[in-house]
Amino acid sequence: MICEEIHKAISALAVNYAADQICVLIDEKVADRAASILDPQWPTLSLAVSEQKKSLETVQQIWDFLFAHGITRRGLLICIGGGILTDLGGFAAATYKRGIDYINVPTTLLAMIDASTGGKTGINYGGLKNSIGCFAPPIETLIWTGWLETLPTKEVLSGFGEMLKMGLIVNDLWGALLRYDLDTMPIDSLQPLIAQCVEEKERIVAADPKEEGLRKILNFGHTFGHALEEKSMDAHARSGIEPLDHGYAVVYGLIAELYLSVTKLGCPKEPLQQLTHLMLHYYGKPNCKCSDREALIALMQQDKKNERTAQINCTLIQNIGSPLINQVITSEEANEALEYLFSL
Ligand code: GLY
Repeated sequence: MICEEIHKAISALAVNYAADQICVLIDEKVADRAASILDPQWPTLSLAVSEQKKSLETVQQIWDFLFAHGITRRGLLICIGGGILTDLGGFAAATYKRGIDYINVPTTLLAMIDASTGGKTGINYGGLKNSIGCFAPPIETLIWTGWLETLPTKEVLSGFGEMLKMGLIVNDLWGALLRYDLDTMPIDSLQPLIAQCVEEKERIVAADPKEEGLRKILNFGHTFGHALEEKSMDAHARSGIEPLDHGYAVVYGLIAELYLSVTKLGCPKEPLQQLTHLMLHYYGKPNCKCSDREALIALMQQDKKNERTAQINCTLIQNIGSPLINQVITSEEANEALEYLFSL
């Protein structure tokens, strides 16, 4: 039923924005479920996506699809899927004929609460996450939490990792997240917490759309998290070991950055202890294939968030709801935080 509402919302937005043609980019994993919201007349490209395929080749495939269907600058692209798909689709839309409108229909928890709002689009390049891209907000993000009913547990946990980050940087969310029991509570009871995360993200992005200041608070956990994820992607390419999901990497990154928040800024130890408990219960310890500390520090020094070459820059917190951006971390401090993470 809600799917019908999504169909109606897409059609209404196409009229409002005077789109002359609607076309669809969809993650093949949800193509069957999404059939009822799609019009057979809308050209559709179904893609198998992964971090490895978040690449220029895939963007070319999307551009070719748009050209093949004669999409003009008044075309509207509907991106249906998780964060990798919405980042790819948004980037292809933003660069096709200097930019066409697009709508996100996130189908994973991670995409609902983070990736599909805020207009960060892009691809992985040179072994670095999201190192090529642009800010290009969708004209709308249509969230229907019914998609979560069939989402694998691992992907629910991945999205929950980003929710935990939000809980640490804003007020009035952390306690509710700690009380939410993923083992026993039905997924639809997450809805108010999802709505709160989306509202917080929209508020932060509205105040700083291009990440010049405030928006950097959303990067808490991501300096270490991205390095762990990149290292695990490299290990995957070399030996086929399953790479870390983004939200898992964020949880491990949060542990390292909470450790630094305690040691450098005097943050109370309680959130670190609570998150460590959640990590051990839900996520397990980080895969040892991504524990090469020297390589992780080198990756952090290349992070696009750094303002100077070879400097490690993080968001840390003084307490729950009190983040501090632009905290410079020495290699020794980064090493100590990683040592702590891998000792758990
Ligand atoms: N994912 C962090 C941001 O959108 O800024």
